[in-house]
Amino acid sequence: MPEATTATGLTAGQRRERLVEVYHEAKDCQKCPLAATRTQVVFGNGNADAELMFIGEGPGAEEDRQGLPFVGRAGQLLDELLHGIGLTRDDVFVANVIKCRPPGNRDPQPAEIEACHPYLMSQVELIEPRVIATLGNFATKLITGSPAGITRVRGTPQVHEIAGRTVFVMPLLHPAAALRTPSLVATLRDDFASLAALLDQEPPRGATPAAMASEPEPDQLGLFG
Ligand code: URA
Repeated sequence: MPEATTATGLTAGQRRERLVEVYHEAKDCQKCPLAATRTQVVFGNGNADAELMFIGEGPGAEEDRQGLPFVGRAGQLLDELLHGIGLTRDDVFVANVIKCRPPGNRDPQPAEIEACHPYLMSQVELIEPRVIATLGNFATKLITGSPAGITRVRGTPQVHEIAGRTVFVMPLLHPAAALRTPSLVATLRDDFASLAALLDQEPPRGATPAAMASEPEPDQLGLFG
């Protein structure tokens, strides 16, 4: 019997091969000034067939050193939260809006986000997650296409058309925000429970994208607003 193909028309093996090709394209990327200051590109890692994909903001110092996403303190909290819903990093794929560390961990600049966007879209297209969990304001605003801040939209699933597929998007606080404000860890745990429930639902099919976006909150640009 021929191997099943999905939205891309590629088999799982072909999608994995293509993802490796995108990794090779990204690892020498010179499309923005962060190429000059990074140690290495942090492409993302995990299960290339994951139903759940996390999108964070960008690599920090430890991620830049190791070349892997979420390996510092925020990553430890992410691991703990995953464990709480019976998952490990091997079950999910973890990527970032930008693949290179901004100097001094400053906010990503619009031109950097734009330069990196094709890599992120290729990742979504090839991994074909059913649920995308956005961590913090930058990923949430980019993926939802709405300026609504994370404090306002966190914990409520949305439906969006991303890279040609209809997916659930679950906006979550950034774990780094919870490390700074420990009372937010409980909020994140609650939202991870909602995320687990979402994974049990049927994938959204051709639903109207993004309908639930709220009004703009242009002043909210930090990790959580
Ligand atoms: N914060 C992020 O947004 N991404 C990482 O990979 C690490 C910390």
